[in-house]
Amino acid sequence: MSEPTDLVIVLGTRPEIIKLAPVIRACERRHIEYTVVHTGQHYSDSLDGVFFDQLELPTPEHNLAVGSDSHARQTAAMMTGIEDILQEEQPETVLVQGDTNSVLAGSIAASKLNVDLGHVEAGLRSFDRSMPEETNRVLTDHVADYLFAPTDQSRQYLLDEGLPDDQIFVTGNTVVDALQQNRELAERKSDVLAKLDLERGEFGLMTAHRAENVDNERRFRDLLEGVGRAAEEYGFDVVYPIHPRAKNNLAEFNIEVPERIRVIDPQDYLDFLTFESSAAVILTDSGGVQEEACILGVPCVTLRENTERPETIDVGANRLVGSEPTAIVDGVRAAYSTTQMWENPFGDGTAADRILTAVSPTMETETEVIQ
Ligand code: UD1
Ligand code: UDP
Repeated sequence: MSEPTDLVIVLGTRPEIIKLAPVIRACERRHIEYTVVHTGQHYSDSLDGVFFDQLELPTPEHNLAVGSDSHARQTAAMMTGIEDILQEEQPETVLVQGDTNSVLAGSIAASKLNVDLGHVEAGLRSFDRSMPEETNRVLTDHVADYLFAPTDQSRQYLLDEGLPDDQIFVTGNTVVDALQQNRELAERKSDVLAKLDLERGEFGLMTAHRAENVDNERRFRDLLEGVGRAAEEYGFDVVYPIHPRAKNNLAEFNIEVPERIRVIDPQDYLDFLTFESSAAVILTDSGGVQEEACILGVPCVTLRENTERPETIDVGANRLVGSEPTAIVDGVRAAYSTTQMWENPFGDGTAADRILTAVSPTMETETEVIQ
């Protein structure tokens, strides 16, 4: 058996890599012993390797390489692999982030071995149990020992479910840390606008990859039609970096994409941040993209019936439009008429430090700790 480590960080998909990068950097800075377990839920370079390279993260010590499969098979393969690693590493604490199958697998494995579990981005709720992400979030929160709620709203949701106040830490969202660490770099390094011949403020950015949207042919067609119509009305192009799930379905359903939507490969983080911060409007079903749009001050139209990020709506940064084409066009109109700036509800960019301070005061080292 190897030496016990303080912390095991489980991740597996693009948003987890991006949002846990600040925690990994903070572990390095604070000389905390940590081990990263990559489940391999995402494995295509454009969803995985490119982020490790660009964010200068060390290669994970463990990669379970589970790949794509049905929910139960994928989650089961991850749980088995994570359990073996936790028995080997004997960590004090396991950290998971968000709401993917990798999160659920890490949570159940840690909980059954009686290892302390910290859930980063706890207390988000769409109240829509048909979404796999909602199941993953709720179950994870109910077995976690540390609940890292990004906002007071998410803390309240946890309290409403009877979870103990002394396990809840309102930390802000690590997405703010990630943006602060990379935004300027993106400004300096990315030439993606020039490459695509786009002018700042004169295009739209779209992402759609959620199962409930792109696995349903009718909804996917409606979404694209609505975005296409809005683009025509405003006379701009919409850039759509497409997730493989959506790309596969586009081909399978034989959908013709409206002319003004420019489908491109998934982008690396710096190029994607450049698109986000330069777009006139962002249309998305992504959780992380709703947050980033709000933090960057770009109006957002969410192509869903609900959101687990109600803070973005409350501050006036975002609106829910679903998939109906007319509603999408109206949403873009409303986004365009937004003149007032809003406050960032997701914290001050010190979430990673707050999380590490909470999981173990004994892990505090010579570097300063932000309270
Ligand atoms: C997962 C999360 C979702 C999150 C998204 C982030 C779950 C249930 N869903 O969805 O909440 O928003 O990640 O991007 O955990 N594929 C590839 N290459 C890859 C990975 C997947 O081509 O590296 C293709 C495969 O055809 C696969 C499909 O995408 O079947 C879906 O992948 P999967 O990991 O099941 O879910 P995501 O849609 O990525
Ligand atoms: N992102 C990226 N390149 C892209 C699309 C998204 O780097 O082409 C980043 C985006 O900045 C955000 C994260 O991926 O930080 C969001 O991930 P995704 O939409 O896949 O998942 P969700 O947040 O919906 O779970």
